[in-house]
Amino acid sequence: MTTATRDARFWDRTARKYATDPIADMAGYERSRERTRELLSATNQVLEIGCGTGTTALSLAPSVARIVATDVSSEMIAIAREKAAAAGCGNVDFQVAPAEAAPGHPGGFDAVLAFNVLHLLPDRAAVLAHIREALKPGGILVSKTTCLSEMNPLIRLAVPVARLVGKAPHVAFFTGAELEADIARAGFRITERARHGSGKKDPRIFIVATAP
Ligand SMILES: C[S@@+](CC[C@H](N)C(=O)[O-])C[C@H]1O[C@@H](n2cnc3c(N)ncnc32)[C@H](O)[C@@H]1O
Repeated sequence: MTTATRDARFWDRTARKYATDPIADMAGYERSRERTRELLSATNQVLEIGCGTGTTALSLAPSVARIVATDVSSEMIAIAREKAAAAGCGNVDFQVAPAEAAPGHPGGFDAVLAFNVLHLLPDRAAVLAHIREALKPGGILVSKTTCLSEMNPLIRLAVPVARLVGKAPHVAFFTGAELEADIARAGFRITERARHGSGKKDPRIFIVATAP
């Protein structure tokens, strides 16, 4: 079984629980979402990768023209579609797709959103290259990412064990500075970096990067 298939199954299994679990730091989540909303405009065509159950896409939908929201997990997308139907939301197109093959015409998007997903990708460089191709010149990547190398080092031991018993997906370890370097290597200019968490030490970096 490939890493992608194994991960899709992991996220399929956890989707219903993920949908009902409360957001751990709601104030931090809202700061990131509202900053993202400020960066978008009513005419924007937006792509989201790793959209999960669609909470953020559905919340941002009234502020943009259209969102293509994608996720590798068909269960996550099924829940997102249920939520879109219940909300009567007509401008979000939820699709099952791995981030490295997210749909859309090259150069067709004003913004790509990647929330809580860049650390889960088996090939981050390939996905960043794909995102750059998907964006119009001057388009933006808006991301929020857990930097596991900034957390308790014991997590390096815990993750492989959890993964062995199917309790964790693939994860990559990097710091915020390392992620910024990866994004810059893919040809982007970092235009904003922030930590929106409510706690003293927030391992999640919010990065806005502009395509050339
Ligand atoms: C931690 S959840 C985040 C969901 C949502 N973005 C949020 O912030 O609540 C990670 C999501 O990324 C998706 N995912 C994991 N690996 C992926 C990949 N290679 N391509 C696309 N989506 C992926 C999972 O299915 C899951 O829905």
